[in-house]
Amino acid sequence: MEYEKILEIKNLNKEFENKNGKIILFEDFNLNVKKDELVVLLGPSGCGKSTLLEMTAGFDNDYSGELLFEGEKVKGTSGDRAVVFQKDALFPWLNVYDNIAYGLRIRRMNEGNIKVKVMDVLEKVNLASYSDYFMEELSGGMKQRVALARVLVLEPGMLLMDEPFGALDSFTRLKIQELMVEIRKIYYPAIVFITHDIDEALLLADRIVMLNAGEKGKYMEIIPEFEGKCENLMDKSMDEKFNDYKREILEHYSNNNKNMI
Ligand SMILES: Nc1ncnc2c1ncn2[C@@H]1O[C@H](COP(=O)(O)OP(=O)(O)O)[C@@H](O)[C@H]1O
Ligand SMILES: [Mg+2]
Repeated sequence: MEYEKILEIKNLNKEFENKNGKIILFEDFNLNVKKDELVVLLGPSGCGKSTLLEMTAGFDNDYSGELLFEGEKVKGTSGDRAVVFQKDALFPWLNVYDNIAYGLRIRRMNEGNIKVKVMDVLEKVNLASYSDYFMEELSGGMKQRVALARVLVLEPGMLLMDEPFGALDSFTRLKIQELMVEIRKIYYPAIVFITHDIDEALLLADRIVMLNAGEKGKYMEIIPEFEGKCENLMDKSMDEKFNDYKREILEHYSNNNKNMI
């Protein structure tokens, strides 16, 4: 079904009980994500980013309000809302090829078609010559590329990424961020991307949604637009507007999260 707003979150309320009582994470929270759009959820630790992603993925169904994916209520998990975590649960007993083929085999695709798809996606994430490697033989950046390939091969309508590059060093991180930009020219899933890294948010986002620790329903949005042509992420990070946005974001957080350390 064609649907301009692929994800609609309407009047979402979410709370947890813990030892000190109730914590309210979301109160009448509303957010839409368009098809093909990359929305970054930016916010300090504990503001509820992962919880929001888990509800969207269908892992956590204990909330009130509405979560609609392609116009239908989210009920449980689905390959169409694929998740990539910071440390991915790749299967250590399978090689790269079989890790990526796994989801297609569950879908009972024939091996010939699987091979075409897996080799194609391996090419896209620059791992074509590593198909017979096992996870312990790969660097952190390579593992995250396998994790990305494993979900891309399923051609999901939406990718949910929870600090996917958070454990990588800054050099590897820039490389994989660049890879994300390249991949988005070929695959067009909507992406909800969580990070607490302001630079990463500015480099990757079509729209940044800034969540606060204090406010439960409101948020501020930034749609980054840069001055120069910005052929690559390096250009973007050197763009005049980049630091202006960064200042705006930092000021917003220092004004809205005064009790945070
Ligand atoms: N299952 C749970 N039970 C109780 N409290 C939880 C649970 N999951 C998360 N929380 C609390 O909810 C808050 C938000 O958590 P989380 O969504 O992980 O934040 P973030 O990803 O933004 O760091 C935290 O204070 C956390 O302790
Ligand atoms: Mg989190």
